[in-house]
Amino acid sequence: MPNNICLKVPKKLGEKTISLTHKLEIVNKNLHIKNQQNNLYIPLIRTPNEEELSQLKNITQEIAIIDTEDFTEKRSTPETLTDALKRQLQHNLHSNIPHSFDVIGDIAIIEIPPELTNYKNLIGQVILKTHKNIKSVHAKASAISGIYRIRDLTCIAGENRTKTIYNEYNCQYHIDVARAYFSPRLSQEHHRVATLVNPNEAVADLFAGVGPFAIPICKLCPTAQVYAIDINPDAVELLKINIKTNKVENQIHPLLGDARKLANDKLSGIADRVIMNLPETAIDFIDTACQTLKPSGGIIHFYGFTRKPDTIDDLKTHFTHLIEQQGRKITTFHCIKRVRETAPYEQQIVIDAQIH
Ligand SMILES: C[S@@+](CC[C@H](N)C(=O)[O-])C[C@H]1O[C@@H](n2cnc3c(N)ncnc32)[C@H](O)[C@@H]1O
Repeated sequence: MPNNICLKVPKKLGEKTISLTHKLEIVNKNLHIKNQQNNLYIPLIRTPNEEELSQLKNITQEIAIIDTEDFTEKRSTPETLTDALKRQLQHNLHSNIPHSFDVIGDIAIIEIPPELTNYKNLIGQVILKTHKNIKSVHAKASAISGIYRIRDLTCIAGENRTKTIYNEYNCQYHIDVARAYFSPRLSQEHHRVATLVNPNEAVADLFAGVGPFAIPICKLCPTAQVYAIDINPDAVELLKINIKTNKVENQIHPLLGDARKLANDKLSGIADRVIMNLPETAIDFIDTACQTLKPSGGIIHFYGFTRKPDTIDDLKTHFTHLIEQQGRKITTFHCIKRVRETAPYEQQIVIDAQIH
């Protein structure tokens, strides 16, 4: 083992010193601290600067920096992205290091803060190194926008491709992260809705994407029929592939086009349940959803955003008003909850409402 720079400190002051080295972010977390005679040897990632040294000396003047001790590596826990980047970036950049990113199949998608733009390729390489299952890393290059709800991406490391295969709750999806919307952060929500569907239901998924509601519904409920609409031709192509991959050809009817037009032309009054996952503008399609439901009623799963100062109650009131404008009534709110935070002060909300 090579020598490493470390702090030698009397054992009785070890705990205090270790805690300070963590606070100063100078401890080498990949190496085991060594305990020898009456001293601890704390491995460091770099030599402390004068200010840090003076803080350490405040604990005890006996503290010493030496570079002749061998340490054993901690092999069991792989280094995290944050730790690996802290080793490689200047201290003043540490607070900008991203702590998480989305993983879809073998593709990682990360938001690079503006302060780290010059280090985006390094960040990509570190992700590849610390996550062996990832083969391609993309940086977000725009917000999600447009009617297809997709964003620009820039490949920053690994294979320059956007297609992958993703598994979620026993379903397999062919995804193209650049051409059709998909979010692994909705995985629980897809599953939650699928578990609510009863035998023989007709479901209209007005904004179906590549099928993450439609497919689990059919897998969990083999007598359900799902009409899955999307306006993005790439999404519908992928949906068709996913229908075959998951062997639900007899249950899902993929439809390419505008939900308002298709639902009005082909699905009027047929649905026991309508799914509306287009949070930006689903509120403009309440008339379509009501027209698609059977005259006897059914359930709407409505997704919307609340942006401060608007609250969930404001959204609920607006939703109720629009349903009533269609001559329908809400008999029960089965569920109203926050699904996830989508931006600072912006939350995605779901309303499950029983409509008559
Ligand atoms: C937020 S994504 C949700 C996709 C899918 N339900 C999911 O959970 O991954 C919304 C989808 O609605 C589609 N879309 C937008 N406007 C539409 C419209 N007027 N008619 C049908 N689909 C539309 C977009 O192409 C996009 O795939």
